[in-house]
Amino acid sequence: MGCKVLCPSVYLLAYLMICDHVQAECTQPSFASRNVVLSANHLSTQNFPNGSTVTFECVIGHKLVDRKASRSVTCEGNQWTSLELSCTRKSCGSLADFFDGRYDMTGNLFGDTAKPVCNQGYMLAGKETTRTCRDQGWDGRDPLCEPVKCSAPPAIENGQLVDEPLESYNYLEEVSYRCNKGINLIGKSTLRCSEDGTFKPDPPKCFDGCPTLKIPNAKRIDGKAPPYKLGNFIEYKCEDGYRLEGDAYIECRENGWSPEPPQCIGKTEIISFINV
Ligand SMILES: *[C@@H]1O[C@H](CO)[C@@H](O)[C@H](O)[C@H]1NC(C)=O
Repeated sequence: MGCKVLCPSVYLLAYLMICDHVQAECTQPSFASRNVVLSANHLSTQNFPNGSTVTFECVIGHKLVDRKASRSVTCEGNQWTSLELSCTRKSCGSLADFFDGRYDMTGNLFGDTAKPVCNQGYMLAGKETTRTCRDQGWDGRDPLCEPVKCSAPPAIENGQLVDEPLESYNYLEEVSYRCNKGINLIGKSTLRCSEDGTFKPDPPKCFDGCPTLKIPNAKRIDGKAPPYKLGNFIEYKCEDGYRLEGDAYIECRENGWSPEPPQCIGKTEIISFINV
């Protein structure tokens, strides 16, 4: 019976004591914007009693802004004193130009990158490796730039290179194509060995005309008879009882007939189609 009165007061007292205790401590401090981390021996601690002192150090790749700044803070009641320590990104120094190339750098501080670029007419030997400014300095090493070489350009259908192809070509060296007799050349006949080791532009096409068409139940009402060369056209009409699907007028273009050749569809077929 006495507990009804007494117990709540005991709980209240206990609560106040715990609360008092909770208030006289600090949670783990963090000053991330200063590029610092808590020393390793404090990292696993979550709560620090009133009066405790913890120390900070620079995060990796960073150095002290002021060597004399205090590295520690103290828990006063439930608040940490302010931190003097501040750290800034370390410098890796700039990277000098190398043989036949230089670096394209985002900067020379921790985390910055340097992309090697070869001088004109040279290309990287091996795969490109961008260097990064790490804690201990620039990683990797200077790459090798070697003179651009192009391998022989591809063979083409219905045409060939004017001169016998060589094993390899120097930067800016040119090759020319020609098409077999009576065939249209589409594109540029002359290509040049470019900076990236390939010939540019793409080789031309030798256009052997458009195929002869056989469209069932259609008749040609305009245009010429085969063979069809670039620019030739045909106009079709369907036989009686057939309906034209597509365009009646088609033209021979670089990529073949344009638009797609039409079809003649039996009108009765359509009806039976619908019935099904
Ligand atoms: C923290 O400790 C100091 C003495 O070290 C004391 O004066 C202060 O009252 C304490 N603060 C709290 C909230 O307990």
